[in-house]
Amino acid sequence: MIDTHLHILPGVDDGPATTEESLALARALVQEGVQVAVATPHYNDEFPRRPAHEICERAQNLQQELDRHAIPLRLLAGHEALIKPGLVEDIQLGRVATLNGSRYLLLELWNNAWLPDTERVIFELRAFGVVPVLAHPERYRALQQDTHRLAALLEQGVLTQLTASSLVGMQGSSARKCAESFLKQGLIHCIASDAHGLTRRPPALRRSLQCAQRMLDQAGLQQVIETTPAAIIQNHDLSALQAATSRPGMRGRR
Ligand SMILES: [Fe+2]
Repeated sequence: MIDTHLHILPGVDDGPATTEESLALARALVQEGVQVAVATPHYNDEFPRRPAHEICERAQNLQQELDRHAIPLRLLAGHEALIKPGLVEDIQLGRVATLNGSRYLLLELWNNAWLPDTERVIFELRAFGVVPVLAHPERYRALQQDTHRLAALLEQGVLTQLTASSLVGMQGSSARKCAESFLKQGLIHCIASDAHGLTRRPPALRRSLQCAQRMLDQAGLQQVIETTPAAIIQNHDLSALQAATSRPGMRGRR
C-alpha cells in the first residue's frame, strides 16, 4: 500500500510528539503493508504553519531515523491543507507542500460547516493546474447530508481519498455509512490511513481493508490503495480517472 495521508512527523501537529512515537507508528504501518507514505501534517490555524521546504527537511530527517532503525518505510512529504482563500498563492510562495511536490494537493474541508468559498477555491486551484485530493469526504456533515455536493466537486475535477478506519466505524456511524455508500458507488479514488499515532487515530488498516475488499474486487482494491496513490506521488496525469468518476454512467463497482 502507498499511504497518501499520514501524521507521522514528530512535534509538528497532533500526530506523534516524539521521534520514538513516530518510529512506533512507522513499524505498525509496515506491519500492515505500507511501503511508501506521504507525511502530511496539518496546514491550518491550529498549528504553526511550517513552509514546504521545512516539511521536506523534517521528512528527510525522520527517513534517516527509519533507515537507522531498519524500518522499511519510504517517506515523502506534503501537507494536509484546510480549505481557505489564497491557497494558490500559498503554493506559489512555497508555504504549502503538495503531495511529494506533485500537482496533487491534499485538501481538507471544514467538518461541520460549508465554507461559502469552497467551489471558488477549488476552481482557482484547478485553473492553476493543481488537483485537490479531498481528504475523508465521508466525514463532512454537508456531504453526508447531500451527496450531490460531492458529485459537484467531482465534476470540478477533485479526487477523493477515503480514510480507511471510517469503514470500521472509528470515525462514527454516519461516516461509516457514508464511506460504504461512496465506495460502492465508485466515488472514491484512493484510501489512506490518516493515522496520527498508535493510541489516538491508529491506522487500523488490515481490518479496514478487509472491509473494503467486501465492496470492491481485488483489482478495485489495488487501484485505490496502490495504483492511484502511485500515480499521485509520481505526478502522473489522472484526468481520465477523474472524467470517468464525474460521469454518472461510469459510476459503480470497479
Ligand atoms: Fe489528516
